[in-house]
Amino acid sequence: MKLIIINGPNLNLLGKREPDTYGNKDFESFFSELQFKFKSVELSYYQSNIEGELIDAIQKADEDFDGIILNAAAYTHTSVGIGDAVKAIKIPVVEVHISNTFSREEFRHKSYISSGARGVILGFGLQSYELAIQSFLNDPE
Ligand code: DQA
Repeated sequence: MKLIIINGPNLNLLGKREPDTYGNKDFESFFSELQFKFKSVELSYYQSNIEGELIDAIQKADEDFDGIILNAAAYTHTSVGIGDAVKAIKIPVVEVHISNTFSREEFRHKSYISSGARGVILGFGLQSYELAIQSFLNDPE
């Protein structure tokens, strides 16, 4: 199975950014741990701070992968374009968030991604990504 993790803005700063909310680990080391843990999965990783680049990556993934694990970060709450891209592709998208967005500010309660996603996993820290990978293994279609 080929999966891609697509991370949105400011997630390149994981480990340094608001550690009380997002933890102390940078995503690159976490990604290596994921590759080690899920050896049966061909995992890729892409991060961008730019909305249009994220849309391009989602469209491209439709040709190259079996599924997307998407943390659109702040664009989750603002981007009709990313929401539309998720709806436009054939492969399933699992939306993830590190923090429990529902226990935070009201503006984080709205997601433009969720209605097009297969499911949403949030609030489990970086473990949210692992649970998303596991969901693809449990239900590969
Ligand atoms: C986030 C939650 C978003 O509200 C926030 O803008 C992020 C990260 C999360 O993973 O918890 O950048 O998507």
